[in-house]
Amino acid sequence: MARPLPDHPQLTGNFAPLRMECDAPDLIVHGELPRELCGSYYRNGPDPQYAPRGQHHWFAGDGMIHAFHFRDGRVAYRNRWVRTPKWDWEHEAGEALFAPFDPASSDPRVAGRDSTLANTNIVWHGNRLLALEEAHAPYEVDPETLESKGYWTFDDRLEGPMTAHPKLDPETGQMLFFGYMAAGPFTPDIAWHEVAADGTLTRSETFQAPFPSMVHDFVTTREHLIFPIFPLSGSLERAMQGRPPFAWEPDLGSHIGIMRRDGSARDMRWFEHDPCYVFHPMNAWAEGDKVIADVMKFEQAPLFPNPDGSPGDPAKSQARLTRWTFDLAANSSAVSEEALDDFAGEFPRFDERRAGLAYRHGWFACTPPGTRGSLGAFTAIAHIDHATGSRKVHRLDPGDGASEPLFVPRSEQAPEGDGFLLALVFRAATLRSELLVFDALNIDREPLARVELPHRVPYGFHGNWRPAG
Ligand SMILES: [Fe+2]
Repeated sequence: MARPLPDHPQLTGNFAPLRMECDAPDLIVHGELPRELCGSYYRNGPDPQYAPRGQHHWFAGDGMIHAFHFRDGRVAYRNRWVRTPKWDWEHEAGEALFAPFDPASSDPRVAGRDSTLANTNIVWHGNRLLALEEAHAPYEVDPETLESKGYWTFDDRLEGPMTAHPKLDPETGQMLFFGYMAAGPFTPDIAWHEVAADGTLTRSETFQAPFPSMVHDFVTTREHLIFPIFPLSGSLERAMQGRPPFAWEPDLGSHIGIMRRDGSARDMRWFEHDPCYVFHPMNAWAEGDKVIADVMKFEQAPLFPNPDGSPGDPAKSQARLTRWTFDLAANSSAVSEEALDDFAGEFPRFDERRAGLAYRHGWFACTPPGTRGSLGAFTAIAHIDHATGSRKVHRLDPGDGASEPLFVPRSEQAPEGDGFLLALVFRAATLRSELLVFDALNIDREPLARVELPHRVPYGFHGNWRPAG
C-alpha cells in the first residue's frame, strides 16, 4: 500500500506526480495539426513513485517520459517511468528508499547503491534515445515502447556522469557534453566529451573547476566550449553534518571557463563575474575574438538554501534573459553584460539548427508582471526576435501553467524560425493538460492546434524532438 504524499508545494497541484502509465493512441485535436509536424516529442520530468523520505526537492522525483508521436495530422501519446535500479528497488519495497537531496534520510539498506533518477532531459542522438540526469550516465529508452534498456556508457568509454544538457552541433552532427564531480561526489573535477554523429565517443578530457559546485548546463559555439561555474557550492563536509549538500555561497563568485574545441582544457581562459546563477543558456556564438552567450540569469541560485539551511531571497530567485560578451583578446577577465528582456523567465530554447552560431529567434517560458506563476509553472510563453528586439507573448488564463516550449522546424531547409512551437500547458479549469502547437513566429495568435489530453502531465523539466525516420 503506497502512503499518501506529504503536503509540499512541489507535490501538490500540477506538481503532484501522475503515478500512472498509459497509452492514448489518438488524441483529440482542436484545429488542424500541420502535416509537416511528423516525428516524436519526448518530455522528461520528476514523478516520484512513492511519498519521499526526509526533505523533498523538486529535482528528486523518478524520471517519467511523456511521448507524443505525430503523423499525418494525428497524435498518439504514451508515458512510462524510466525503470532505473532505484525505481525497481523501491517498487519491490513498496516505498521510497532513497532521499536524493537529503542523504541522511535514505534507508541504510540502500547506502552506496545506484541512485540515478534519469529525470531531467531526453535527447535523441546516434540512433539512441537517452534519458539524462546530471549525476549519472545516460539511461537508454526505446523510442516507441519507452521500455528502459539500461545505462548507455558509449561502449564503456564514459566512466563518470553526463550532464542533462548536451549540445548537438548542427554542422557536424557531433554531441558535446560534460560531467561535473567527475572524480567522485563533491570533487571539483569536470570531464568533457565529444561524440561523433554515429554515437561513438571520440574524445574526453578533464580539468578542475575553481571549486565543487552544481554545474547544470554549459554552452558551445562552433569553435568554443564554455563552462560556467557559479557559487552554488557542493560540500561533502556539510552533507555529512546534515547541512545542505548544495548551498548558495556568493563570496565564491562566478567563473566562466572558455576553451577552444580544437584546443585543450589546459588552455582554459577563466573570466570572473559577480555572483549569480544560470541553469540554462539560450545559445552562444563567436564573432572574431569575442564570444557572446545569451543566458537566463538569476541574481542568486533559486531552489537551494544558504549554507546554514536558511532559504534564499525569493525576489532574487527570478531569471532574466541576459547577454554576456567575453573578449578573448583583452587583458581583462571581466564579462560585459546586457539585459535583453525584462520578463522573469526560464527554459530558453531556440531553433537549434543555429546552435553555436549567430541566431535571431528564441523562445522561453515566463511570468509577465502582474501574473502569479512560479519556477516551473509559468503563466506565459514568449518569443524574442534578437534582430528587432521585439517580443511576442502568449498569455495563459489565471491558474493555468506552462513548462518549457520546444521549437520544431517546418522542414530541414526552412529558414530560421520557420516552424512550430510546442507548449504543454496545464488547464486549471479542467485539471488536465493540453499540447499547444503554434506558428512559432506568431505565438501571439491562436495556436494552430490544441491537442487535448485525457489527464494532466505534471510540470516537468525538458523535452526534445526526434524527426520521423
Ligand atoms: Fe535543465
